[in-house]
This record gives sequence, structure tokens and C-alpha cells, in this order.
Amino acid sequence: MKITVVKDYDEMSREAAEFMAQTIKEKNNAVLGLATGSTPEGLYSELIKKYKNGELDFSNITTINLDEYVGLKGDHPQSYRYFMNDKLFNHININKANTYVPNGLAENIEEECRNYDKRIEKLGGIDIQLLGIGNNGHIAFNEPEEELSASTHLTGLTQSTIEANSRFFDSMEEVPKTALTMGIGTILRSKKILLVASGESKAEVVAKMVSGKITTKVPATMLQLHSDVTLIIDEAAAKLINK
Ligand code: PGA
Repeated sequence: MKITVVKDYDEMSREAAEFMAQTIKEKNNAVLGLATGSTPEGLYSELIKKYKNGELDFSNITTINLDEYVGLKGDHPQSYRYFMNDKLFNHININKANTYVPNGLAENIEEECRNYDKRIEKLGGIDIQLLGIGNNGHIAFNEPEEELSASTHLTGLTQSTIEANSRFFDSMEEVPKTALTMGIGTILRSKKILLVASGESKAEVVAKMVSGKITTKVPATMLQLHSDVTLIIDEAAAKLINK
């Protein structure tokens, strides 16, 4: 893993946006794997700035998101489709028809998952996959378990994730308990991976991801198996990495 430690959240956002921007400039029809959560918000703002100042063109870009809650409509403010439109797509010149988020309302969930992986394959794979990391070591909604699924699948959320995500909902009861998520195999097939993390609450899990034993109990440790992973993290999140 290539590790870049920066001062704080804002610097992480700028550096990570610059990193993604390189891929977009090198390949104007790149396939970007995108993530939701608080961590990438600043990065998306920086990408919008780069678009507005004429540095980036998204007209031929395709995006594929990692996951989506089951049961929330795309116009629900906590759905990941809504998040992506609100934080990025509505502000850049991307063709929304080329932005994919799993459909958590699909009648046939299994088919939706199968088709999601097929679509990625048909697009020629993901050029760069952006990831955050959960406090419990999840990437996308691949939660710590005895076994992990390789392909896109329906999953239950752990109590700690439901609690972490409840900050965006009026009550814990409203947080969906299931989601569709890319699997570990789908993620590891990405050509390049960029993971962002900020804040002391991530320090322990970041250290495990970097040098802990590979285990399904900390799904992010699987990233040690990929040959092109870059971490852009702030000092607080990097605090427990063995130097
Ligand atoms: P966060 O979520 O960016 O809101 O901390 C990260 C994640 O759960 O992947």
C-alpha cells in the first residue's frame, strides 16, 4: 500500500481529488467507482471546483457506486443515489444515465446484483475505486463476518454500522437494516484503489488494515492483496500505523 499522510481533513480532500483528477485527465472515458459517507464529501467538493474552473470534463465519464440501502427511493434524502446527485452529479457535466448506484428497490434483488457485476465487466472494469473505511473495518457494506461474498450481494448491516449511520436519520428505527453492496471480489478487481480516512476514530482500524493479519473480521485487510492501493489519510487516522 502506498500511504500518504496529510495534515487534516481538508488536505486529505484536496490530495484525494487531485489523485482522482489524474485518472480522469489520463482517460476521459474512465470508469470511476464511487463511495458515500462523510469522508468523501470534501473530495467531491474539490472535484466540483476542478470542473468549474475548467480543469475536468465529466461528459464521457461513467460512475459505479459501491452500495445502496434496500427500501429507500432515489429521492429519499438518505439514499445513496440522492447523496451522489446532491454532493456531486448535480454540479458537474456528467450524463446521469452513466451513473450507476445499485437499485435497492429492485423486485428481483438477485438479478439486480448479478446485472451490477455484469455491467462493470461490460464497461471494462473500474479504473479507480474510491473507498472509505468503517470503524469496524467494513469496506462498502462488506461487514465483518466469518465469510465474505465476492460478488455484489444483499447484506444485513451490523449493529455498529446501524448505530454509526443513525446520525443521518431521525431515529435508529429508520435506518435500513439491509443493503446491496459490491462484494470484496468486485472491489479487488478494480485496477486502482484509493482509500480515504480522517480522524482519530479511524486510527485503530487503519492500522489493522495496513499491517494486521488478513481476516474477514476486518474486511479492509483484504486490500493488502491488491497491488495498487493508495491511502490518503490524515495524521489523526494514521496515528497508530507502525512506522
Ligand atoms: P464515513 O463512513 O466516511 O461516514 O466515516 C465510512 C464507511 O463507512 O465506509
